[in-house]
Amino acid sequence: MRIGLLGCGNVGDALVSLIDEEADAIAERSGVRLLISRIAVRDLTKPRRSQNLAGRLTDDARGLVEDPDIDLVVELIGGIEPAKGLIESALRAGKSVVSANKELLSTDGATLHDLAASVERDLLYEAAVGGAIPLVRALSVSLAGERVHRVLGIVNGTTNYILTQMSQLHGSYATALEEAIVKGYAEADPTADVEGYDAAAKTAIIASLAFNADVTRDDVFRCGITEIDSADIEFAERRGFVVKLLSVAERNYEGNEESILVRVHPAMLHRSHPLATVNGTFNAIFVEGEHAGELMLYGRGAGGAPTASAVLGDLIDAARGLARTGTFEQPARRHVRLEPIDRLQSRYCITIEVADRTGVMASVADVFGRHGVSIRSMEQVGLANEARIVFITHLARESDVQATLAGLRELEAVKRIGGLLRVLGEDDE
Ligand SMILES: NC(=O)c1ccc[n+]([C@@H]2O[C@H](COP(=O)([O-])OP(=O)(O)OC[C@H]3O[C@@H](n4cnc5c(N)ncnc54)[C@H](OP(=O)(O)O)[C@@H]3O)[C@@H](O)[C@H]2O)c1
Repeated sequence: MRIGLLGCGNVGDALVSLIDEEADAIAERSGVRLLISRIAVRDLTKPRRSQNLAGRLTDDARGLVEDPDIDLVVELIGGIEPAKGLIESALRAGKSVVSANKELLSTDGATLHDLAASVERDLLYEAAVGGAIPLVRALSVSLAGERVHRVLGIVNGTTNYILTQMSQLHGSYATALEEAIVKGYAEADPTADVEGYDAAAKTAIIASLAFNADVTRDDVFRCGITEIDSADIEFAERRGFVVKLLSVAERNYEGNEESILVRVHPAMLHRSHPLATVNGTFNAIFVEGEHAGELMLYGRGAGGAPTASAVLGDLIDAARGLARTGTFEQPARRHVRLEPIDRLQSRYCITIEVADRTGVMASVADVFGRHGVSIRSMEQVGLANEARIVFITHLARESDVQATLAGLRELEAVKRIGGLLRVLGEDDE
């Protein structure tokens, strides 16, 4: 199988080395002989780690996807354009496509799926979510007939590394972020990771697969980790929780009507939950199914070699697909109602800093009461002339909690409101 590769950066370069060095062993293990015959890049003069690229490199990506000597196309450029146009041209030219492009698939996934189905070619993207973890295949093949109720995930290694460092070293967010940048786990501009954009794109892909629905990244409620401080993490740990940036895709039923709620936000997760043990740059997803029960997939969510490994698996699958006979079947994605975050029912952890004087607690409690948010527990720590108060609520509706926060902001005695944590699991006390 002759492969045309679009992009030779972190992942592309690792894929070239992997296939060049292990083609014989891969053929022995899989029955498929792969050869990367052309590689399109933007800058032909840039140094690359892979050897023997002369004669294969080109800056003519469009020529590559239309080349009749290419059987399969791998897109590892990233972003929306030119990646989208190139994938469409490759599919129309009768080539199956493998991509790792979460941004594109979480934006235009349904359109690309429909095109692939109409030309009876594969569009595979295992590497777009969770790097080396075979979760796309698990959701779309192994669990294809399963009624999945909920998928929880830790799908961003950068934020998981930062939160793990803050917990283990009792350090600040700024120090942990700095260290992540130095170690190469975070970009110099970390916005996509720390504000939750990357996790939201992956959550949209997970929800689309788990519920066979058309979910885009704009449908995902998103809140990042920048408001989390070490005191939040210490408080959570005293109560038996860890703080994680959690990706949640869940399906709800009201009578016969089905809806989906998709969200990414920091959460307090009880330490007994299997996802609570996922530390550092590792990723995992935890699936709750009607018949399968609970299952978890864990592994390396990023990095050139782990991501290239997932691309390789897709290439072998696509190569075998080309040899298959019979019709290609891909279920069309359904339109399912998306629930706004306002409708979420959860327990919440709310931190406020207030002036430490009499009467303040009564006015704060009054705001909670007016909005029907019932307090389950409260902890107060004195800070010079102020006090830091942490509330954990009983089950409450998000819209009522947001109204409570708005009411608290109006109180003159409230100096600061910390990051809001949604709570999963019961506390130890
Ligand atoms: N890195 C990871 O750990 C990881 C993990 C999971 C998924 N992914 C996904 O994998 C994809 C690739 O990521 P990466 O980290 O390998 O990106 P990268 O290092 O930035 O590499 C991008 C490559 O695309 C090439 N390129 C850019 N514009 C092009 C154009 N117009 N025509 C031809 N080539 C072009 C670049 O060429 P030059 O080299 O000449 O500049 C470069 O080789 C992205 O979709 C990313 O989201 C990455």
